[in-house]
Parts: sequence; C-alpha cells; structure tokens
Amino acid sequence: MILSMTHPHPYIHMRRLRRSDLLRDLVAETHLSPAHFVAPLFVRRGENLRRPILSLPGQFQLSPDLALDQLSEMAARGLKAYILFGVVDADDKDEVGGHAHDPDNAVCTTLRLARDAGISMLAITDLCYCEYTSHGHCGPLNNPLDETVPRPRLSGRRGEKRRLPTAPAFKSGQITVDNQATIELLAKQAVLHAQAGADIIAPSGMMDHAVGAIRQGLDAAGFNDKVILSYAVKYASSFYGPFREATGTTPQFGDRRSYQMDFRRGSREAIREAMLDVQEGADIVMVKPGLAYLDILRCVSDAVPVPCAAYQVSGEYAMLKAAAAAGAIDEKQCVMEIMHAFRRAGASFILTYYAMQMIDWLSE
Ligand code: PBG
Repeated sequence: MILSMTHPHPYIHMRRLRRSDLLRDLVAETHLSPAHFVAPLFVRRGENLRRPILSLPGQFQLSPDLALDQLSEMAARGLKAYILFGVVDADDKDEVGGHAHDPDNAVCTTLRLARDAGISMLAITDLCYCEYTSHGHCGPLNNPLDETVPRPRLSGRRGEKRRLPTAPAFKSGQITVDNQATIELLAKQAVLHAQAGADIIAPSGMMDHAVGAIRQGLDAAGFNDKVILSYAVKYASSFYGPFREATGTTPQFGDRRSYQMDFRRGSREAIREAMLDVQEGADIVMVKPGLAYLDILRCVSDAVPVPCAAYQVSGEYAMLKAAAAAGAIDEKQCVMEIMHAFRRAGASFILTYYAMQMIDWLSE
C-alpha cells in the first residue's frame, strides 16, 4: 500500500498482461513455425552409409541414398528447406578443391536424387572450398612462390610434385586465400549446383565480391531464378569446432582470420559487409554464428532491405546438448528461448541442427 501510494504511476501494472496464458498469447510479438527452420545435412560419397557425428549428437554423415530417405522424412514432417554440406574423402582432396567440380560428388548426387524424387523442400547448398581442399582453407592459396611467406608441407596431395620446400608452420592469421581465383571457381561451382537442382546458393567462404561473381555466373548460364543466400557476416569463430570435425575441414595450418571477420569489430563493419553483398545481388544475407552475435543480427537486419537469416552453429548446438545431457538445463525450454531470441533480433529464418526437433516440439 505504501509503495503504490508513493509510486508515480499507480494505475500502471506491467503484470496485468502477464496474468494468464490467454493474455500472454494475445500480446506475444514473436512466433515460430516450421517454415522458420533450415536443416543442415552432411552428405558423403558411398551407399547405405550413416555415420554418427560424435561432437554433434543426433547428426550423421549420410550417403546420398540415405540422405534422400532423410529428406523424404523431413518433407513429410513439414520442414521447408535444407542445406547440404559435402564431406569429402581425403583421396578426393587436392590443393584447389577440384572434387567440388565433379558432377558426381555427394552434394550434386543428392541434389539430383531429391529433384528426381520430387522432394518438395528448398534445396540450399553451402558453397565453399574448405570441404574440398587438402589444406582445408576456403579456396586455393595465393601465389605459393611468395618467398616472404614460408609454406608448410601440404598433406593429402596426390600425384604432382610439390612446388615448394617444406617450411615451418604459418604464423596464425597469415594464410591468404587467392580471392580472384576463388570467386571465379565459386561461380562455376554455383552453376554446377544449379544444374543439379539447387534452389538457393549459399556462399560461405567470405571472399570479397563472391556474390557478384556468382550472380554473374548463374545468370550467364541461364539461372537468373536461383536465389543467393550470402553468409555475408561471418566471424572467425571457435564455435565452428564440431562442424569442422564433422566435415574434416579444420585448416591443416593457420586459421581463417584473413578472410572471416574479427569479432572485436562492431556492427558498422557487419552492415558494410551485408550492404556490399546486397549491392552485388544477394537476395538474403546471413549472420553467423548466432547466439554470441545477436547484437550484430539486430543491426544488420535493421540496416539491409533484404531478409536476414541466422545460423545457430555447431558449437552452439553441442553446448546445449552437453548441458542437457548433464541435466543442467531443460533442453526444449532453452532452445525455444534462443529461437525466439533469433527471431526477435530480426532473423527471418534460422539454420539449425535443431530443425527437425523444433518441428516436433512445435507440434506438441
Ligand atoms: C564452410 C562452413 C563452415 C560452417 C558452415 N560453412 C565452417 C567454417 O567456416 O570453418 C560452420 C557451420 C557450423 O559450425 O555449424 N566455410
């Protein structure tokens, strides 16, 4: 009583709208539906292959035939989109990622199977080279004859003699991927994915002007209807750890800090990255990782006039799974809370290893 008498606004009660489920539902401003989730799928050459990914409980490397079964199930349960990642055998890797251009690789094969089976989901492909290069970087490396940069021995190379003597490891952050060579290759790889049936191409390598090159390549090949979802704002993050284990894409030396973004920078750089991609023709932009970058997501989605996606990456999923397995959190409630946070921060949709689980939880 004393409190309300001294309160400057005695008629305002914030708790009034929180009184019941009906009232809370009436005024909720953020909603989730199956259409908001995109499921990542790891595909690998072979048949009848289903390998659990230890760091990502509930996720598997699948051969194209089993990936098709999985896609049929996803479609039946109401998922609207998936994104394919290729897992490449060491024998198929080389310094420039040539296997990415093999129309019979696991990604292209899965795309064709899905199209032939009439899977009614959007097929998104991750467009990068780290899955395909022996060194694990996101494109061919810069002129290896640059004497100022010592080069380590590359592993997994077939045939050809190495051009350079072995050298001590790179200093962290020194690796340079050849930007021009990479974006020209990306345009070709995008056309290959489009031919195999991809609806949406998602370049994830953080090369400058990749989106423009891909748009040009697609249009020149008659694919002006294919959508580009750019990983426009992608940070050099340790939260990709489990993914790299899942796909065997940990760089053999150095790191990705000469192309992925530095998390000490702020929203202005992020907005610039996103705006540039929009100018080059990106239809949708993405911010990645998710939870640690909600501030960036908010700023980018406010700044750019295209839909904005969030990627809840492998390390975020692994943390939640580990906490749930330890009995420390209520997994469903925590994941729901985070998914609403992505939407609240401006995400039109979310790429997440929880996609299938979300469909189940939402239908309960
Ligand atoms: C490929 C790529 C990565 C992820 C998506 N595409 C790894 C990386 O950049 O090292 C990470 C996804 C995840 O962690 O779930 N460039």
